[in-house]
Amino acid sequence: MQGPLIDTLARQGVTRRTFLKYCATLASMMALPPSAGRAMAEAMAAARRPSVIWLPFQECTGCTESLTRSHSPTLEGMIFDMISLDYQETLMAAAGHQAEDALNTAMKDNAGTYLLIVDGSIPLGQDGAYSCIAGRSNLDLLKEAAGGAAAIIAVGTCASFGGIPKANPNPTGAVSVSDIIKDKPIVNIPGCPPIPVVMTGVLAHYLTFGSLPELDALGRPKAFFGETLHDRCYRRPFYDQGKFAKTFDDEGARRGWCLFELGCKGPVTHNACATVKWNGGTSWPVESGHGCLGCSEPDFWDAGSFYKALSLPANPLRFGAAAAAVGAVAGVALSVANRVKQGAAKSAHETTTLDDLEK
Ligand code: SF4
Ligand code: SF4
Ligand code: F3S
Repeated sequence: MQGPLIDTLARQGVTRRTFLKYCATLASMMALPPSAGRAMAEAMAAARRPSVIWLPFQECTGCTESLTRSHSPTLEGMIFDMISLDYQETLMAAAGHQAEDALNTAMKDNAGTYLLIVDGSIPLGQDGAYSCIAGRSNLDLLKEAAGGAAAIIAVGTCASFGGIPKANPNPTGAVSVSDIIKDKPIVNIPGCPPIPVVMTGVLAHYLTFGSLPELDALGRPKAFFGETLHDRCYRRPFYDQGKFAKTFDDEGARRGWCLFELGCKGPVTHNACATVKWNGGTSWPVESGHGCLGCSEPDFWDAGSFYKALSLPANPLRFGAAAAAVGAVAGVALSVANRVKQGAAKSAHETTTLDDLEK
């Protein structure tokens, strides 16, 4: 663990107002009441920067690219100031033995407390020879690093479910992190790539509460993956009215009608694209006129049929899913709000406060 986060923020000239705004936005994304932003800010400001080790396995660097793409100043950029990223091959200046030394030192000095982030799948074929770092297989590295980790974050569909490397015929024998590690808390943040703010939201939750957020049956944070895109899609009224674009350039497409018949997988895809969006909240695939491919779901690549309509009974989700979604959001909000209260109570005993930041 490094020094309190508040010291880092103050050194970097982050103002109290900026930090509070960040926390309020984050609380809103996590379906928390507006007052929760202040409690999160207090808890995070007093937190100590956790050591984070990031191991890239069988991946395309798309996840790293997504998470580090900056629109300055960004929420995701700010959260990366809140952790001590001690090893990340793609981003670190060190190489070769120096890089390996950094990894070993981080694991040794922070044994039992560091967060392990993994992107990419793990190939088991040919004794792991398909993907090695410093002469060691991804499998060996994962097992060693997981052994000393407090928790693991599997970033992207490859690390979460195997992703494209696992697609038929899976020549490398690719598997996910949770296929191998069974004795550590693991949160899956799927997406090909995942949304940056979703990952930083999980990190912020860990900083605030010292634990991973509430997860669904596939290990995904419910606050971001609790609903389908279809439940929150702005084109949903057209779906309910039976107004569908039939081609990408017909009158329906020009009017912004539903893309279901062009293959949109929104009704069966859990992700936050419809609310959080991409590129700093600019847009998301459906808003750009293309149906969702379902990239955050297991086996999305093998499921294919990207431009074929799902086989669903006529308008099956109209009322049932909406009612379920309301219940799910209320449940998540209540659960996280309770933990915010606990975090606020804990932070009340800390000597450092938000007011120590530059005003
Ligand atoms: Fe690349 Fe997608 Fe895998 Fe991320 S999840 S490493 S973007 S293929
Ligand atoms: Fe939106 Fe796709 Fe659902 Fe249509 S099918 S409402 S475009 S998510
Ligand atoms: Fe992926 Fe669908 Fe979002 S393809 S990026 S989950 S809109």
